[in-house]
Amino acid sequence: MARKLLLENINVPGIKSFDVYRAKGGYRSVEKALKTMSPDDVMEEVKKSGLRGRGGAGFPTGMKWSFLDRKSDKPRYLVCNADESEPGTFKDRFLMEYIPHLLIEGLIVSSYSLGSNTTYIYIRGEYRWIVDILEHAIAEAKHNGFLGKNILGSGYDLEIYVQPGGGAYICGEETALIESLEGKRGNPRMKPPFPAISGLYNCPTVVNNVETLATVVPIINMGGDEYAKIGVGRSTGTKLISACGHMNKPGVYEIELGLPVDEFLNSDEYCGGIRTGHTLKAVVPGGSSVPILPAELFYKTKEGVARLMSYESLSEGGFASGSMLGSGGFIAMDETTCIVRNLWNFTRFYHHESCGQCSPCREGTGWMEKVLHRLEHGHGSMSDIDLLVDIAKKIEGNTICPLGDAAAWPVASHIRHFREEFEYHVKFPEKVAHSPFAHSADYKRELNTVLQ
Ligand SMILES: Cc1cc2nc3c(=O)[nH]c(=O)nc-3n(C[C@H](O)[C@H](O)[C@H](O)COP(=O)(O)O)c2cc1C
Ligand code: SF4
Repeated sequence: MARKLLLENINVPGIKSFDVYRAKGGYRSVEKALKTMSPDDVMEEVKKSGLRGRGGAGFPTGMKWSFLDRKSDKPRYLVCNADESEPGTFKDRFLMEYIPHLLIEGLIVSSYSLGSNTTYIYIRGEYRWIVDILEHAIAEAKHNGFLGKNILGSGYDLEIYVQPGGGAYICGEETALIESLEGKRGNPRMKPPFPAISGLYNCPTVVNNVETLATVVPIINMGGDEYAKIGVGRSTGTKLISACGHMNKPGVYEIELGLPVDEFLNSDEYCGGIRTGHTLKAVVPGGSSVPILPAELFYKTKEGVARLMSYESLSEGGFASGSMLGSGGFIAMDETTCIVRNLWNFTRFYHHESCGQCSPCREGTGWMEKVLHRLEHGHGSMSDIDLLVDIAKKIEGNTICPLGDAAAWPVASHIRHFREEFEYHVKFPEKVAHSPFAHSADYKRELNTVLQ
């Protein structure tokens, strides 16, 4: 049984309440930090732990904290990113809904380290019921002296506010989030300046993911060095993975980083294998924006090295034959999946969610959606496939924020690994025109006939 640091007490009845959470050892890290450690000591432990941001990019958290402008006489802010809009990712929701005090505890310790007296949880509007859960937890923590003025007699003051957003994917991008929090339209800002220098209300700001901030709790309790012993290489500690798609046991799992992908997908402790009677076709291991991996590159890299659930191992081989751990949104697809339709679906999402500030993203996502629509509905041409690759290349790296890249990577990788399936849609328009999924059983046989 793998070690659990975040979800250890998830099945304890009443763990949502302050009293039960506290009785199970909750808020120990706040006592330890505020009574025995300086803000810099806390940051040192986070650095030692090797914790990498759990929001998607995997940037080292301690290093990010060290960039915060501490010389400025302006207030400093910590903002918790609970926007969670990446298709396939639903782990933050699980953590906030079932063990809300873990996040509040992590926020107090992190805010103390960063010198923030006002901290916001920016949460997607669709998580309305979780807003109530968090506000209740905040009120309980305050009632018990862990929030408000002079926490535990330490002289440190902190208020935490929950701010629901409009439910736009782009508001998860940290500068768009800051704009939205300021009451404006959630358009990403040009960087630099980075939020650590000029963020919320032009004050020094750190934006961190829900899981990242909750993980500060076990790090302070056990010490950074101990935490760093868990995991593999530069992928330290545990990670929440939200698993969905054609598997027997979808859900949210806490894994130790470095777990073999085979064990994660196929063991009963986790996903329980691809749904019975079917075979694995592809996996998107880290949320819709990361490159898709066909089954043959999922278990092993091109060089034959076994893949692990870690930042490095999943990206082994670069974009040519690897992917990314991303936000941990693990989507498995069996042989009945139409890859063209899957990509059309993803691309529709990115077109819909583009904020429209940069032409390559605004126009490019729309063109890709149109081309994919015609391919999926049986009136595309062979040149459309190269046209898609070309549009994706022109978006990548040419936009203000990474949403453009997030839209381009799936297109490039779906075509790289499944080009023949796109060609099938051109060669057999009658098969795909009216029944997008019906062709899957015939697909391989017919394709082989055509390709011979
Ligand atoms: C389009 C877009 C959407 C994003 N959505 C989220 C999100 O929902 N939650 C999140 O934590 N990070 C999201 N991110 C990443 C954030 O910008 C930021 O890197 C992250 O919150 C930093 O937290 P971490 O250092 O703890 O990982 C998104 C980025 C982009 C470009
Ligand atoms: S890349 Fe897209 S979402 Fe990001 S700023 Fe440009 S238009 Fe907006």
